[in-house]
Amino acid sequence: MASISVGVDCEEMGRFKKKIKDGAFLKRIYTSKEIKYCLSKPNPEQHLAARFAGKEAVMKALNGLEEKVFFHEIEILNDRNGVPRVLLKKKSKAELKISLSHTSKIAIAFVIAEEM
Ligand SMILES: CC(C)(COP(=O)(O)OP(=O)(O)OC[C@H]1O[C@@H](n2cnc3c(N)ncnc32)[C@H](O)[C@@H]1OP(=O)(O)O)[C@@H](O)C(=O)NCCC(=O)NCCS
Repeated sequence: MASISVGVDCEEMGRFKKKIKDGAFLKRIYTSKEIKYCLSKPNPEQHLAARFAGKEAVMKALNGLEEKVFFHEIEILNDRNGVPRVLLKKKSKAELKISLSHTSKIAIAFVIAEEM
């Protein structure tokens, strides 16, 4: 039977407002497509925080399958319906599903990883 693992994370918005203009931070954590998406929005910090939470939730879910991954190896982009999708830039035996939500104060992410 396939193994399933979950991960969740939430982030407070405050610190991400200060990070919008911190190019070194953005490049360390996010891919160029993620930065382009987030900075195109009226409140970029909400999308940056949601993706940060998403990446930590991915890390937690993959840790449950004994896999390790770094921020920059995880890309979270939306499909044409707005549904967020995770692309891993490294070999993995897991298939990932993610859901994001954010308000002006917090962002939260939930991930399911299924070993294929
Ligand atoms: C999906 C929906 C409920 C989100 O509601 P919301 O309360 O405004 O969203 P939240 O602030 O909690 O979360 C925003 C996140 O939801 C996710 N999201 C957006 N649209 C989504 C969708 N259709 N399905 C799943 N997740 C979605 C995104 O990750 C988004 O954050 P991001 O832009 O940073 O990636 C709302 O946009 C909706 O009803 N859209 C209609 C979708 C629909 O019916 N599509 C039909 C074709 S499938």
